[in-house]
Amino acid sequence: MEPRPLHWEAGGSSRIPFDLYTDEALYRRELERFFYRGHWNYVGLEAEVPNPGDFRRTVVGERSVIMTRAQDGQIHVVENVCAHRGMRFCRERHGNRRELICPYHQWTYGLDGQLQGVPFRRGVRQDGRVQGGMPPDFNLADHGLTRLRVAQRGGVVFASFDHGVESLEDFMGPTVLRYFDRLFDGRRLRILGYNRQRIPGNWKLMQENIKDPYHPGLLHTWFVTFGLWRADNRSELRMDDHHRHAAMISTRGHAGQASAAAAQVTQVSSFKDGMQLNDPSILDIVPEPWWGGPTAVMMTLFPSVIFQQQVNSVSTRHIQPDGSGAFHFVWTHFGFEDDTPEMTERRLRQANLFGPAGFVSADDGEVIEFSQQAFASKPGHRTLAELGGREVGDTDHMVTETLIRGMYAYWRRVMEA
Ligand code: FES
Ligand code: FE2
Repeated sequence: MEPRPLHWEAGGSSRIPFDLYTDEALYRRELERFFYRGHWNYVGLEAEVPNPGDFRRTVVGERSVIMTRAQDGQIHVVENVCAHRGMRFCRERHGNRRELICPYHQWTYGLDGQLQGVPFRRGVRQDGRVQGGMPPDFNLADHGLTRLRVAQRGGVVFASFDHGVESLEDFMGPTVLRYFDRLFDGRRLRILGYNRQRIPGNWKLMQENIKDPYHPGLLHTWFVTFGLWRADNRSELRMDDHHRHAAMISTRGHAGQASAAAAQVTQVSSFKDGMQLNDPSILDIVPEPWWGGPTAVMMTLFPSVIFQQQVNSVSTRHIQPDGSGAFHFVWTHFGFEDDTPEMTERRLRQANLFGPAGFVSADDGEVIEFSQQAFASKPGHRTLAELGGREVGDTDHMVTETLIRGMYAYWRRVMEA
């Protein structure tokens, strides 16, 4: 099905048609062009499959895949579609196995996806005759699971159905790669826990949310009141050359109204001067040497993942589209193997800001849901992302929607829409 032609008011990508969030044909094309072709998608962390035989089920786009660690320590990503009659055979979220077995007819695969055995392949001998079995030219090597190309960097695992995709480093580009390496600098990671939620909104709205430095100091009472993210914080916005990925870099200022410069931002209604913490330990922030200045760097890697460093809380957030009107959002909170027990405790406490019920992130889930409701009710209308002009470019402030315009400029090129 061909998508309906889109009308881009004002030319570029500053006015985004509501149809982008609701049209099924566009969504199918997005899956093909962003999730299944030409892009690296996040699948998980090496630390989630630390031992040979470990596996974890996840998705690339809407396709179920399994990340495994083989006996030789190598990580593989295979599609969860049996080569026999196509069953999505792996039902466990994670585990440890010597091989992968489809329960339907017990075809057995190695952890690298190679087919190892087929029951009754040579038929059944009865009354001195062989009955049935696979054709004589059936070759196990031709019928493995679909294997994805895998790239690993700093303990993070990416995969692509497209074996011709550019290198992961070229895909990120040097600017974004620098921020990626800042967070994943080679230290071994330690998994602290997960949050999962399903947000009834289009998957791109989550990318937009983390490319939108306009809202945090307005929507999030928590951020503005306690100074974690405010328009008067020192900040930079950086993109790759395609404008698809981005980093929002911010350095925490002072809480409250202390400075004259803060007067403007504390006039917003979400600033609650009288709001106090019963337990201030959630804001027990300890700067870490690897930060190198910024107190928060929020990275969006298009299309599938967000890398979060907000003070001592670090996580990956996996965007898993589920139709045009919803996505699953999986948060993996982690720390580093050399963290002290106090630092682990601190990261876990600060993780309460995020996740489905986070003091900050619960707000984002709601605004995405309510945006989607409006899009569905008013086809033909469009959003407006013109803060900071209609152009696309890096900035040294956050009073702009340039990253959103950048993403949709890229979207238009790839989607030919
Ligand atoms: Fe998997 Fe038959 S469908 S073994
Ligand atoms: Fe937010």
